[in-house]
Amino acid sequence: MIQIAKPYLTKEEADAAAETVLSGWVAQGPKVKEFEQRFAEYTGARHAVAVSNCTTALHLAMIVAGIGPGDEVICPSMSYIASSNCVRYAGATPVFAEIRPDDFNLDPDDVRKRITGKTKAVIAVHQIGMPAAIDELKRMCNEHGLKLIEDAACAAGSSYKGRKIGCHSEIVCFSFHPRKVITTGEGGMITTSNEELSEKFRLLRQHAMNAGGYDRHLSGAGVLPEEHTELGYNYRMTDMQAAIGIRQLEKLDMIVKERRNIAEFYNRRFEKIEWLKVPVEKEGCISNYQSYALTLLSGSPVSRDELISLLGSEGISTRKGIMTAHREKAYRDLMPGISLPVSESASDNSILIPLYYPMKEDEKEQVAHAVEKIFRKVLKIV
Ligand SMILES: Cc1ncc(COP(=O)(O)O)c(C=O)c1O
Repeated sequence: MIQIAKPYLTKEEADAAAETVLSGWVAQGPKVKEFEQRFAEYTGARHAVAVSNCTTALHLAMIVAGIGPGDEVICPSMSYIASSNCVRYAGATPVFAEIRPDDFNLDPDDVRKRITGKTKAVIAVHQIGMPAAIDELKRMCNEHGLKLIEDAACAAGSSYKGRKIGCHSEIVCFSFHPRKVITTGEGGMITTSNEELSEKFRLLRQHAMNAGGYDRHLSGAGVLPEEHTELGYNYRMTDMQAAIGIRQLEKLDMIVKERRNIAEFYNRRFEKIEWLKVPVEKEGCISNYQSYALTLLSGSPVSRDELISLLGSEGISTRKGIMTAHREKAYRDLMPGISLPVSESASDNSILIPLYYPMKEDEKEQVAHAVEKIFRKVLKIV
């Protein structure tokens, strides 16, 4: 079976984790600090704060942005559910906006229509690694006094207008889950251009205790006047995860380059099939191709679900397109009757196909050939 995704982990990552275990620093310590510094350098962000995953990063983003009960936050429904759950954690209401069917990212015109007196922020997701319309959304947020938060869970290594995702707005949240382009097992990072916010993130991730374990260690025999200054959380990353992350980050550009080559290979093969739409990179957008999605156009002789099962019988693992949160029970009961036709159609007619590094020539060929064969067969060309 050709898998949909695989993390690229080598002996280097295993050795880095083992060395960290033997160092005795297994919770948040010097490796986390080093990973943060390197991630900030890589993305061009002023500050990077490591956390336990992207969901906790987004939760802290909500708190730091001052989101609370009575507030509305505009976000896409067609995203992983964490993109809207974070709004609910803060006691606020997610307001779902439509996406653009060609890049699966927030449609700025639709976002504008949904701004009310209660709107406090917009969450722009870089869906499956494809950069969203950051500049347009940023202008709109500035005009209306709203915070822009980037959910870059899938977008480590992607670029927008010549600069890496992570340096474009005040709060950007990343994931290092194994389904992402680089991984630390579980893990997340927040980048920010604002020093005050970075300090706030550091405080909140460690129970709002004003001296962390590493600071206390560095203080030696001295007594630190530690205090828990507000309601905080335990959202820390461990040094083992960070040690793995440092090795992964060194490989990120190489992995993205290879993933883009695979995406180009698929584009060349699937552009020729008139019922398939390949991913679109809008001007200035460079995707890391965290996933590769094909959209079945209307009139396709094969439905999306048929394609999934036919590819499965060819030994190729695939997934349905990105979910919509508003059709999940967790949201249907809370806010019934929402209709988002563009998001629903994009979600129901798309399929994610295998893309990972390193993907062998014959594996790519097997995937492309299987898709072509299925369309030829239903059209009785062979
Ligand atoms: C768009 C998006 N946001 C947030 C998350 C949550 O990331 P994590 O699993 O690191 O909490 C994911 C994970 O798949 C995601 O795809």
